[in-house]
Amino acid sequence: MASLSVEDLWLSYGGSDWVLRGVSFSLGPGVHVVAGGTGSGKSSLLRALAGVAERIHGAVVRGRVRADGRVLLVPQEPDLFILMPTVSEELEYLAGLSGGRYTAGELASIVGLEDRLHMRISRLSAGERQRLALASVWALGSDIVLLDEPLAYLDLWGARELVSLLHQLARKRVVVIAEHRLWMLAPLSPRVLVLEGGRLVFEGGFEEACERGFERLDFGPSCG
Ligand SMILES: Nc1ncnc2c1ncn2[C@@H]1O[C@H](COP(=O)(O)OP(=O)(O)O)[C@@H](O)[C@H]1O
Ligand SMILES: [Mg+2]
Repeated sequence: MASLSVEDLWLSYGGSDWVLRGVSFSLGPGVHVVAGGTGSGKSSLLRALAGVAERIHGAVVRGRVRADGRVLLVPQEPDLFILMPTVSEELEYLAGLSGGRYTAGELASIVGLEDRLHMRISRLSAGERQRLALASVWALGSDIVLLDEPLAYLDLWGARELVSLLHQLARKRVVVIAEHRLWMLAPLSPRVLVLEGGRLVFEGGFEEACERGFERLDFGPSCG
């Protein structure tokens, strides 16, 4: 079973103050939301979890990250992730990467883009692009999926479709989502990790997070 844990994780960007301060947790399959206001360290945490903080972002990382499974980081801007001009070409490419485990058609049906095959990527909605980017999870056999604010540019309909795909994705995988609009993720009954100033100040169930009512998090009408 896939798992992801960190122990006493510290991160800074060359000479800056520590952006993550002694973060520790251990996650199994299911949906986990990393919540916190702007600048609390959510994106930095995902970069450290994906092992790219030092190599790509020039960060200094201390502590331990242990990923038991293949990790995939989907950046906030999913366009960075898509290489081909049309949906069908992108899915053919991903089917190739899957080593014959999936056809382009199968990937299209998993992510609900069967009727978009001939469209140019530039004509897709933000939600459709996110779902296309997530076809990589199946193509690459990822066990641990990290998403940075996947709902940022989505309308309500797009968000619902994405949430239902995330639900399916999380059955066997560890899914970590950086997001402050918690109410949109309420249907997934996520576990919630709250960052404040780079420290993990809360880890628990959605209901409990609601009861605590963190000032900078948007629980909307989802708290009972
Ligand atoms: N590449 C970077 N270089 C220098 N500082 C950064 C970089 N990325 C983020 N930071 C700083 O680290 C802190 C945490 O940022 P970030 O991890 O992006 O938080 P969040 O995703 O919660 O908004 C902020 O003060 C931000 O300015
Ligand atoms: Mg961020």
